Amino acid sequence: MSRMFKKTKAAKKTAANFMRCDLPEWAELEQHASAMLDTHIHDLFARDAQRFEKFSLRLGSLLMDYSKQRVSEETIRKLCNYAKACDLPDWREKMFKGDTAVNPTENRAALHTALRAGADAKIVIDRENIIPKIQCVLDKMHRFSDEIRSNGRFTHIVNIGIGGSDLGPAMAYKALKPYTDQNIKVHFVSNLDSSHLTSVLKQVDAKKTLFIIVSKSFTTMDTMVNAQSAKEWLCKEIGANSAEDHFVAVSQNVELAKKFGVKEDNIYPLWDWVGGRFSLWSSVGLSLCLALGFEQFRAMLDGAKAIDDHFNSAVMEENLPVIMALIGMWNRNFLGYDNLAIIPYIQNMSRFPTYMQQLDMESNGKSTDKNGQPIPYDTSPVIFGAPGTNAQHSFFQHFHQGTTIVPCDFIACIKNTDSIGDHQTRLLASIFAQSEALMEGKESDDPNKRFEGNRPSTTILLDELTPYSLGMLIALYEHKIFVQGILWNINSFDQCGVELGKVLANQIIPALLEEKETKAMTGSTKNLIEIVRKIS
Ligand code: F6P
Repeated sequence: MSRMFKKTKAAKKTAANFMRCDLPEWAELEQHASAMLDTHIHDLFARDAQRFEKFSLRLGSLLMDYSKQRVSEETIRKLCNYAKACDLPDWREKMFKGDTAVNPTENRAALHTALRAGADAKIVIDRENIIPKIQCVLDKMHRFSDEIRSNGRFTHIVNIGIGGSDLGPAMAYKALKPYTDQNIKVHFVSNLDSSHLTSVLKQVDAKKTLFIIVSKSFTTMDTMVNAQSAKEWLCKEIGANSAEDHFVAVSQNVELAKKFGVKEDNIYPLWDWVGGRFSLWSSVGLSLCLALGFEQFRAMLDGAKAIDDHFNSAVMEENLPVIMALIGMWNRNFLGYDNLAIIPYIQNMSRFPTYMQQLDMESNGKSTDKNGQPIPYDTSPVIFGAPGTNAQHSFFQHFHQGTTIVPCDFIACIKNTDSIGDHQTRLLASIFAQSEALMEGKESDDPNKRFEGNRPSTTILLDELTPYSLGMLIALYEHKIFVQGILWNINSFDQCGVELGKVLANQIIPALLEEKETKAMTGSTKNLIEIVRKIS
């Protein structure tokens, strides 16, 4: 609860230094929280037989049960009042319209929603409707995936990219494995550690391998170094002339992609209004599209669009991403919980927590507001997670009896196409048991066997994991994160915090290679460099 109730006492409030926590609605929430801190979720259930009906929402095949959160009807009312005071509906409209005010540091729109809006939509940026150019790239992806899936020319696809150019397609490829073409195996290489690339190269047949270099900027060191090494390997294996046809690029920087040696026709464009971590729906999803086929890829976009439409039209009290965001904020800023665990009870979704780490923490891990003022309240929680039931046998001890309360998002599917015997029944029993145990706790005379309970969780149930329902789930979290950015008045669409490390790495490389003096490094770093020089 590091900065829970801290506020800066500004002598005079101006528009520029007026903070979200200066809103009367924030103060009301603070007051309400002190009353709720002693409330047990168990008692909230005991008082209201309709609690589940009141605190759960459904959209198609997705159900979100937040009745096990420590919230009352008054909490939700006050949170919605706060969201209105932050002009949430207005900001939502701005994002969908492509207003650059949503990303003031980069002066860019954030239009991932346009990527799934469909051919009939109209979104105008700089006096141009961007929908036809999105459709044009989708059509190109459609033609290419039909071709690759029918001609058997490539049996291995290697996606080289990092961050948003890796995590989304890698997560979704694994999640949707049952829907993929078994004759095409997709590999993902992201890490600068060459073991990642070499382990993949050992598995593929050079003549039948397509490399997709995915980098919005086409300057990211990790990706460029891997791409260059892959190119050298391929040229050696099949000759430089043939290698050319084995490379495709996905990038906003067409010139650098051409310079790298990718044929213009093999370059899939991106636009500056697509943020890296929100880019799965664009040509960044090409490897996934090749594996799934275009129809299923489109189904994923349609699932996301269903959430977009809901987010745009549902009243706040019944709006899934809004409620999810408000509960996250309530837990973070008013109950003082610093973490959020995301636990999918679906083995194929094992990469979902990692994907969510970038989506949430790169977006909302900020401490300066949109006016450039340092903010006195907490923002993005620390996100972590692992698939249930494995997580139960590693860190759940802490969840049940540890000193840090960690709110959980439990995610499960009712049906599992791969199910054997009674696995699925037992799996679902496990997830429900965990949320019940966390909430209810258990009395015991033996302190070692006592469970305090009152630990909050949300359960998200999908009928089945399909491209459509996965699209819904991802978009739900995307919008949750956007809403929280508005609630905290931060820019969710830049990532200035990742730059410093990149700059320093570029200064250290020559020091390691050429034994040059490093500029302004601390004694620790200088000594570490020295040790490496001596040994390597
Ligand atoms: O980590 C910083 C970052 O810019 C991410 O936001 C992005 O997803 C990743 O690097 C990769 O960037 P690019 O697609 O330009 O290679």
